[in-house]
Amino acid sequence: MRLTDPQSTNEDQGLDQTLRPKTFKEYLGQEKTKENLRILIGAAKKRQEPVEHILLSGASGLGKTTLAHILAYEMGVGLKVTSGPAIERVGDLGSILTNLSDGDILFIDEAHRLNKLIEEVFYPAMEDFKLDIVIGKGPSARTLQLDLPRFTLVAATTRPGLLSTPLRSRFGVSFRLDFYQTPDMEKIIERSAKILRVDILPEATKIIAQCSRFTPRVANRLLKRVRDFAQVKNSGQIDELLAKEALAMLEIDELGLEPIDRQILKIIIEKFDGGPVGLQTLAAATCEEEDTITDVYEPYLMQIGFLIRSPRGRMASREAYAHLNQKLPQDYQKKLI
Ligand SMILES: Nc1ncnc2c1ncn2[C@@H]1O[C@H](COP(=O)(O)OP(=O)(O)O)[C@@H](O)[C@H]1O
Ligand SMILES: [Mg+2]
Repeated sequence: MRLTDPQSTNEDQGLDQTLRPKTFKEYLGQEKTKENLRILIGAAKKRQEPVEHILLSGASGLGKTTLAHILAYEMGVGLKVTSGPAIERVGDLGSILTNLSDGDILFIDEAHRLNKLIEEVFYPAMEDFKLDIVIGKGPSARTLQLDLPRFTLVAATTRPGLLSTPLRSRFGVSFRLDFYQTPDMEKIIERSAKILRVDILPEATKIIAQCSRFTPRVANRLLKRVRDFAQVKNSGQIDELLAKEALAMLEIDELGLEPIDRQILKIIIEKFDGGPVGLQTLAAATCEEEDTITDVYEPYLMQIGFLIRSPRGRMASREAYAHLNQKLPQDYQKKLI
């Protein structure tokens, strides 16, 4: 497994749960989104109505699932968690929806992977809290309409662009989680260190924050690895040197890049002369899945300005050349145009 992969792995599940903030107060950063959600909840409470359906988008590990849990906690309602690919048949959806209570939140992770047939059943459920069930087949088939509890759908997606327009338009509000600011990352690491009872100096916190790809899940994972390293070394306290040693051993550089990230950039630079290179070609050359490139590697490489995505393909930026100590090709400027 890649250490800085922002996607959740089995190993993470325990860590995610231990460190997951339970209230808005514990959820650090993303101030604008938090403020808007607070207002939304306050207004709904006043009207004594369920909150509108909410769409949360943003890269893996930024806190979408956490927000869904916080919303349920702050509203004092129940939460049912499922995911797009887990709802295979209309019957599955029916049993989930009819088992909700008034006001409950239904959280659907990876909403862009909902199957289209299920999506269509969802529309009347979202709009009018009705469920249409077809009984029987052929000419004798009948449609039965069930009343559903007034639930709030909270959907999360890493790829909002893949959501169908009719589904997207049925959300009352939509929020995009951004990569975190470095000071917020430091606060998140401090908080996690307290919970895990790790003794860490501010300088070391800074080092880990810089390598965490502006992503809380990555920060927590690195903190845990550095702690393990400290324990093996019998160091009670994590200082700057120890943090650096641990990260070097894990082959994570000062920008949080792992060998595979550098490999991708190197292939673009050496094999494709800096690009532009199409996604398919790049996937073949790096032996990675196209989806893994777009969902896992690219968001961060683009965020730090190392990768440029244009309609003609991917290009390595000047900064990427500099970081890898490579010489810019003579015609580089022309390629950008
Ligand atoms: N704003 C935040 N403040 C503190 N910790 C956070 C925050 N957002 C996420 N985390 C931490 O990162 C982990 C991953 O977040 P999660 O909500 O599962 O991300 P996503 O669902 O977007 O992939 C959580 O378990 C939590 O410990
Ligand atoms: Mg999640």
